[in-house]
Amino acid sequence: MSTPTLEKKSDGPARSEDATPYITVTFRLRRFNPEELEEAYWEDFTIEIDPKERVLDALHKIKWEEDGTLTFRRSCAHGICGSDAMRINGRNRLACKTLIKDINPEKPITVEAIKGLTVLKDLVVDMEPFFQAYRDVMPFLVTNGNEPTRERFQSAEDRERFDDTTKCILCAACTSSCPVFWNDGQYFGPAAIVNAHRFIFDSRDEAGEQRLEILNDRDGVWRCRTTFNCTDACPRGIEVTKAIQEVKRALITRRF
Ligand code: SF4
Ligand code: FES
Repeated sequence: MSTPTLEKKSDGPARSEDATPYITVTFRLRRFNPEELEEAYWEDFTIEIDPKERVLDALHKIKWEEDGTLTFRRSCAHGICGSDAMRINGRNRLACKTLIKDINPEKPITVEAIKGLTVLKDLVVDMEPFFQAYRDVMPFLVTNGNEPTRERFQSAEDRERFDDTTKCILCAACTSSCPVFWNDGQYFGPAAIVNAHRFIFDSRDEAGEQRLEILNDRDGVWRCRTTFNCTDACPRGIEVTKAIQEVKRALITRRF
């Protein structure tokens, strides 16, 4: 029996000289550093980048190669942690989920901090008011009585009732796109209501009434003007306005 000969594999498809995918793109960034200047200002950075890269990659390139003082948040880089919501070309998006080719790279791409929260530096805002509203709606399962001896059963239909609102990653894209929130910052905001919804409609939870009372407050659900900005902004595709409407309906009917 003859021994089979192994052919050396090539290192991949040959690349033609002019196949470089790079294009020249200008990023217009809203800068703010209270230690240096009281006013925010726009600064342009023109870089070479593959349009199939994401805005987050461009920000990294600018920070690593052009200006190390550029400040922004990011962690997972894959649309899961919710830390890099920002206004890109005037619309709230996650920088790690936004491809440069999808946002018209022929014109300068504007990137600025989300609105309605105090800017601390460049693209970083103070998220504390946002998380305080989240904490205020008790975003955890509340049960009374004895500890169960086995898991709490739930039918597929009951689970389905709040499936959409379990997807929230707390990025604040919805709340910071809401004109009511921009105006006074007191409104709980869509994200807090989404997370209240997730437990109000959970058949295992026993604090629905309490959460509804919290949201019946003057800064609660009734401040919503149904502008749908929140639904448009949500990178997880959650029907935010619908969730708010369901909470409003539950407040009127007390059925949930
Ligand atoms: S509802 Fe959507 S936009 Fe709002 S915080 Fe959750 S994931 Fe972000
Ligand atoms: S970096 Fe985690 S969602 Fe974008």
